Amino acid sequence: MAPPGAGKGTQATKIVELTGKPQVSTGDMLRSALSEGTELGVEAKAFMESGKLVPDEVIIGLIRERLKQPDASNGVLFDGFPRTILQAEALEEITKVSTVISIEVPDDEIVNRIIGRRMDPVTGDIFHVTFNPAPEEIQDRLVQRKDDTEETVRSRLDAYHKQTKPLGNWYGERGLLISIDGTGSILEVGALVTSAVNTV
Ligand code: AP5
Repeated sequence: MAPPGAGKGTQATKIVELTGKPQVSTGDMLRSALSEGTELGVEAKAFMESGKLVPDEVIIGLIRERLKQPDASNGVLFDGFPRTILQAEALEEITKVSTVISIEVPDDEIVNRIIGRRMDPVTGDIFHVTFNPAPEEIQDRLVQRKDDTEETVRSRLDAYHKQTKPLGNWYGERGLLISIDGTGSILEVGALVTSAVNTV
């Protein structure tokens, strides 16, 4: 867990490499549904574009279906899920959570990271115009996410503080939370993530 744009997707790549477990990102799943124009995508569109959370029952249904896939049988890395206490309670009934890594980044830094983010639609790789520039040869195909505007970021941060941050205490009380400082460079945060994963 982490605020929007704190580096969940960036660091998830590292955890996938370390553990071999598939990444399950509810944000990516919703974006695929949106671009394919499925019923789920149509339902989620307005919430995502305004920076609000998609209703819990929709997300829980999505996770239930995803965990039935064969590649999920030995565990997964959740990215951006759960995001509310209700989602966490539902997850407890579905499967066992071994560890929760929380990446801590202050709000001002979040805005810089999100405004400068660029995605490669071909590989799904995440870049940043300043902090992690893409190679010259793919610059022309990079895209910016529709919800990566300053106005939407504020609303996403608001949803994070009100609905997701309380989950830190919830998992802390269960002895599952590892908090790491996310303000360093991508490599520095990656080193902290690696040592957190190695303690599991
Ligand atoms: P989602 O896709 O999960 O968005 P998010 O939480 O807002 O997180 P992001 O994907 O924006 O950021 P990130 O933390 O992965 O950062 P990244 O690594 O890209 O969700 C989108 C929407 O879907 C939600 O708003 C909601 O509507 C809905 N949704 C999804 N899940 C839901 C759920 N469970 N319940 C309800 N609704 C849900 O990094 C960001 C940028 O910073 C990049 O450019 C990167 O290069 C750069 N960067 C990363 N680390 C560093 C560093 N250490 N130093 C400098 N730059 C860095």
